[in-house]
Amino acid sequence: MQSLLILMFLFINLGPGLIVSNPVVKFPCKAPLHNSYPFCNTTLSIKKRALSLVSSLTLEEKIQQLSNNASSISRLGIPAYEWWSESLHGIAANGPGITFDGVIKKATLFPQVILSAASFNRTLWRDIASAVAVEARAMFNVGQAGLTFWAPNINIFRDPRWGRGQETPGEDPMVVSEYSVEYVKGFQGEDLRGVYGVGERRILKNGNFDDGDEGGERLMLSACCKHYAAYDLEKWREFARYNFNAVVTKQDMEDTYQPPFRSCIQQGKASCLMCSYNAINGVPACANKELLQKARVDWGFEGYITSDCDAVATIYEYQNYTKTEEDAVAIAIRAGTDINCGTYMKRHMKSAFDQGKVLEEDIDKALFNLFIVQLRLGLFDGNPAKRQFGKLGPHDVCTSKHKDLALDAVRQGIVLLKNDKGFLPFDKNKISSLAVIGPMANRSDLGGGYSGVPCNQRSILDGLQEYVKKMYYATGCENVQCNSSNGLVEASAAAKVAEFVLVVAGLDLSQETEDLDRYSLLLPGYQMSLISSLAAVSKKPLILVLTGGGPIDVSFAESDPRIASIIWIGYPGEMGGKALSEIIFGDYNPGGRLPVTWYPDSFTRVPMSDMNMRADPSHGYPGRTYRFYTGHRVYGFGHGLSYTTFTYRIVSAPDKLSLLGLGSLNIESQSSSGAEHIHVEDIANCHLLKFYVQISVTNNGGMDGGKAVLIFSRTKNEYKHAPKKQLIGFDRIHVRAYASVGTSILVDPCQHFSVVTEYGNRILSFGDHILMLEDREYTISIEL
Ligand SMILES: *[C@@H]1O[C@H](CO)[C@@H](O)[C@H](O)[C@H]1NC(C)=O
Ligand SMILES: *[C@@H]1O[C@H](CO)[C@@H](O)[C@H](O)[C@H]1NC(C)=O
Ligand SMILES: *[C@@H]1O[C@H](CO)[C@@H](O)[C@H](O)[C@H]1NC(C)=O
Ligand SMILES: *[C@@H]1O[C@H](CO)[C@@H](O)[C@H](O)[C@H]1NC(C)=O
Ligand SMILES: *[C@@H]1O[C@H](CO)[C@@H](O)[C@H](O)[C@H]1NC(C)=O
Ligand SMILES: *[C@@H]1O[C@H](CO)[C@@H](O)[C@H](O)[C@H]1NC(C)=O
Repeated sequence: MQSLLILMFLFINLGPGLIVSNPVVKFPCKAPLHNSYPFCNTTLSIKKRALSLVSSLTLEEKIQQLSNNASSISRLGIPAYEWWSESLHGIAANGPGITFDGVIKKATLFPQVILSAASFNRTLWRDIASAVAVEARAMFNVGQAGLTFWAPNINIFRDPRWGRGQETPGEDPMVVSEYSVEYVKGFQGEDLRGVYGVGERRILKNGNFDDGDEGGERLMLSACCKHYAAYDLEKWREFARYNFNAVVTKQDMEDTYQPPFRSCIQQGKASCLMCSYNAINGVPACANKELLQKARVDWGFEGYITSDCDAVATIYEYQNYTKTEEDAVAIAIRAGTDINCGTYMKRHMKSAFDQGKVLEEDIDKALFNLFIVQLRLGLFDGNPAKRQFGKLGPHDVCTSKHKDLALDAVRQGIVLLKNDKGFLPFDKNKISSLAVIGPMANRSDLGGGYSGVPCNQRSILDGLQEYVKKMYYATGCENVQCNSSNGLVEASAAAKVAEFVLVVAGLDLSQETEDLDRYSLLLPGYQMSLISSLAAVSKKPLILVLTGGGPIDVSFAESDPRIASIIWIGYPGEMGGKALSEIIFGDYNPGGRLPVTWYPDSFTRVPMSDMNMRADPSHGYPGRTYRFYTGHRVYGFGHGLSYTTFTYRIVSAPDKLSLLGLGSLNIESQSSSGAEHIHVEDIANCHLLKFYVQISVTNNGGMDGGKAVLIFSRTKNEYKHAPKKQLIGFDRIHVRAYASVGTSILVDPCQHFSVVTEYGNRILSFGDHILMLEDREYTISIEL
């Protein structure tokens, strides 16, 4: 009886319908020759398997693993592995791990991150990451992707000129932190592990997964927090990302540059960290032991650390930090960099070893970190087609579900910047004709940096065509540079005949991208004069639609009554035209808010290389981001209009919080202001101070709408260099016309009411702290 059951079991498992054999995908531990090594034995712990694998290799073989292009080890049946795949906002073509020339030719292109960030909707961020993960795993299954991806980009969007600011969730450390957590959890498969595949994992009573071993949880895919740290400059004057030394104060490190990385690791549990090209206070990031070990030791990072591409070479070649190539690879691996993207470690590690600069155990440590991640990904568990997620394939890519999600992301992110006297939305039935003008109107490559091949290549024009019967089109300018006014005549003719005029202008990757920062915040070339000329000849005020990731100084349009509405659409990807049309014609009520301050062009007087966040009036330095910037803004962080109006109410929050009973208190007084404060680390039970603020939001208009509720705090006893205000919570809600919706936001006073000192410590001051909810303020007093 027993043997019969076993036979049936075998039969069922090997039945032809169940196994998707795929000749393309090579994998280690293949039967019958290579499946009996201890590192293939799934009953052993991941740690034991990793150690066993490390000890099976010769020094030469080990060194050949220290690259994104890890070599095969044919005597053990281990194929080569490409660590570098990209997935910033959809499967991207950038990494060599990805190809679009197999059975899968396209993948869903979600909007560039800065636009999704503008939704302030955590669920959306999580859902996008999960959808990208499904497509990534599908592509892996057909041999078109790896399992290790180098996203998200969670550097703070510090300077409006930064060419890669578009890839980030903006300028606020809390928003970026929260985005990183949702992205990593969604992408690494926390939500999906139970859904796909054979459920080979045990679920513990507490809801956690347990694989009966130590060494970290199983992963669907690996996400990477990059670029650690203080990287946000491509090329500005003599500074390039390769040679730049970011001079960062302890204060700014603690409350601006570092928080996203801490969250990405501690809460997101990312399995990869990427060190950046730049140096920080003189030490190149990938050679910076203190920096890298902080992640492992203080934040409990379990994963591998990769250099940005050739960032080990740049330690020597651009930063001139070491005297030889060998010193560069030695200092990097000993600091904690496990692989170098590129061939530099492969080429120089042997002689570094021969010169005694690197020990075999340094290399072993790196390999251990690398193999642990591959084991957690199931790479050594046999045929991936038979494992969890093995059934995902071409039919799971570009699904209507994913395309709808991409559309929803654009809708939720688009920001209505200006809308004079309710000019928009249009009534569909009352528009006789529309002129669509501008160099971006008929572009179908609106994905921004790190794009792949979208499911559908569609332009803004394509989207509008479904809404408007009679349309005129003119480019106005040949391209985004808009070097001449040659297109103006044709454009003016179109603008004169149409009832309404919509201009699509802004930026593309020729203005802002990797290795390219801007020097001006104004619209490129003749764009501004094109827009103003059209505004002068059009019958009615016109609508200006702006593309691009970085802030643009459009003060001229904001103050021009002939330009009624301004809409920012970022890089919307394949669904931009449809989402924009829905908004223009009132099928969707915009609710996105800017995740970054829009500065005037005069900001470009500030050296891009100055990393200080805080203003310094002594030399006219205005500070950066809404938390510190003291100058004039074109649009502020969080700006975003709706077709309806909302009123906000703080329904309940405590008036007073007492620190009594929270453990021993060591109160200090600050000599300058006399205000008393306490070091947060000296408060034993900080969590006991947490409370919920209950908020009610009322929609006063006749149109349903979404709104991101942002709540800030500031302290009355202003500590020197404290932020003017800081975001402490946000939640996107949807409110029906004339209805109210409640939400509650958890406040952690030790985190949210504290400020960081010059020494990088958090202090909490006694006295009044103020919650700010739009135009409402609420005072909470902290007492003994
Ligand atoms: C796997 O490891 C377990 C525990 O050490 C051992 O009992 C078993 O024989 C191993 N299996 C194979 C196929 O080597
Ligand atoms: C990866 O390395 C191997 C040698 O280990 C080489 O043959 C191959 O061309 C490399 N692939 C790429 C894409 O560089
Ligand atoms: C680094 O050294 C190279 C020559 O090896 C030199 O061209 C470059 O100017 C040096 N850079 C710095 C920052 O000193
Ligand atoms: C838009 O561009 C496409 C190809 O890039 C072209 O075929 C089409 O004619 C253009 N549309 C208009 C209205 O010019
Ligand atoms: C635009 O002008 C700049 C300099 O004025 C020139 O370098 C560039 O090639 C021009 N671009 C085009 C597309 O004409
Ligand atoms: C947040 O995003 C999710 C996923 O797209 C969506 O279902 C939900 O409606 C959004 N929330 C609000 C309030 O718009």
